[in-house]
Amino acid sequence: MRLTVHPGSPLRGTAHVPGDKSLSHRALLFAALAKGESRIENFLVSGVTRVMLEALSQLGVEWSLEGSRLTVRGKGLDGLRIVTIRGGETEGRKSPEEKSVPLLNCGNSATTLRLLSGALAAAGAPAVLDGSAGLRRRPMDRIVEPLGRMGVVIDSAPGGTAPLAIHDRPHGQSLRPFNETLPVASAQVKTCLLLAGLAAAGKCTLREPGPSRDHTERMLRSMGVEISSQTVEIGGQTLYETSLIPPTEPLHPICFRLPGDFSAAAFIIAAALITPGSEVRIPGVGLNPTRTGLLDVLREMGADIRITGECEQAGEPVGDLLVRASRLRGVQIGGELVVRMIDEFSVFGAAAAFAETRSEVRDAAELRYKESDRIATLCQTLNHLNGSGSEIAEETPDGFVIAGGGGLAGGTAQSYGDHRVAMAAAVAGLAARGPVTVEGAEIIGESFPGFIDQMRDLGAALEVSPERALG
Ligand code: S3P
Repeated sequence: MRLTVHPGSPLRGTAHVPGDKSLSHRALLFAALAKGESRIENFLVSGVTRVMLEALSQLGVEWSLEGSRLTVRGKGLDGLRIVTIRGGETEGRKSPEEKSVPLLNCGNSATTLRLLSGALAAAGAPAVLDGSAGLRRRPMDRIVEPLGRMGVVIDSAPGGTAPLAIHDRPHGQSLRPFNETLPVASAQVKTCLLLAGLAAAGKCTLREPGPSRDHTERMLRSMGVEISSQTVEIGGQTLYETSLIPPTEPLHPICFRLPGDFSAAAFIIAAALITPGSEVRIPGVGLNPTRTGLLDVLREMGADIRITGECEQAGEPVGDLLVRASRLRGVQIGGELVVRMIDEFSVFGAAAAFAETRSEVRDAAELRYKESDRIATLCQTLNHLNGSGSEIAEETPDGFVIAGGGGLAGGTAQSYGDHRVAMAAAVAGLAARGPVTVEGAEIIGESFPGFIDQMRDLGAALEVSPERALG
């Protein structure tokens, strides 16, 4: 699908963003591990959560969806089991009952693959987890190795990538408690290990070099698990430590409404800031401080963003945002801020291209391991849209530099199979000197299926057409 965005129309009105992606994954999976029925409102129904729903069905979990209202009948911690295929008739003879090891297709979703691996390790259930070519590129050794040290029998493809095979564990046998220091801050790796830790024989502790999102800790705590978080100084470095005591009682079911996704709101925020004459309200957005690094950065750049109606929802801070078009200046980003805005660099780059001065990002090598190599795809996208043959964006090993000062000309951009790159290019089209066409724009449905309609409702001029046939 080709999405063409025409510049010039200010964005005005109220925007609604879908339920948070990270929270939707967690609420669904943790509800499956609880005992009893959970009800989750404002669940994100999109490509990446569909694969988690389907994988859980294969593991025998019952759920139902009515719009964005999800009901899950939890099976308990060790309830994710091999689905037994009843013996059938083969050539007139009864075949014996067969047990099949499920092949779970995680699509493009590393969150599904990493979180499910932790849950399967806790349940002691075997499965093979695989996904798209893009997912097979992403590093899984960061979960395979620590899970192996806990006693989980798990294999990966060469290079520590998917497919992963998790093997059966004898019923009643616990896992070894872990004490790990992760080389890279990652909420997916942390969550995978904490889930496996639910079935460990004692207290588990992990440390990370940065403050990765803490949704798992908040949600599991509300389900009755003892989890503590603190910062510790080791060898002159500040580390973020999380400890879990394996529960002796089943996890409590959950019943709440999920906040709107800050990472989806980020595209509307940036669009309103760079499109002259815009004023947009975005109610009910999750404002967990481990997610809102982009707000701090944009405000430092001179953005007019106000927050009202702050409250708590599903154990998470939430508020309403009011964003007005603003003149932006360049900014320097590095250190812990990178972790707090890890999913926002593509859209940050689109905004920085319209800032009056130069921006620079350091300490962000992790961006190379996302749905695409986001340092490369961002710089290529901005340079294509710069038009003049001169480069506006320059890659560095662990970040990028964006010249700023001249905006963008427009042209054709690729999605690179990355939902956030596609939306960032579309946002850039609102303020460019000419239209921007994004090829492969259907990938946007992975995380923000209503993006195009939402931008139209705000007044953006967008057109959708089928991809041109090759050859
Ligand atoms: C996520 C954590 C982040 C983020 C991803 C969602 C999560 O990944 O980029 O979109 O839900 O835990 P990493 O843990 O790999 O940094």
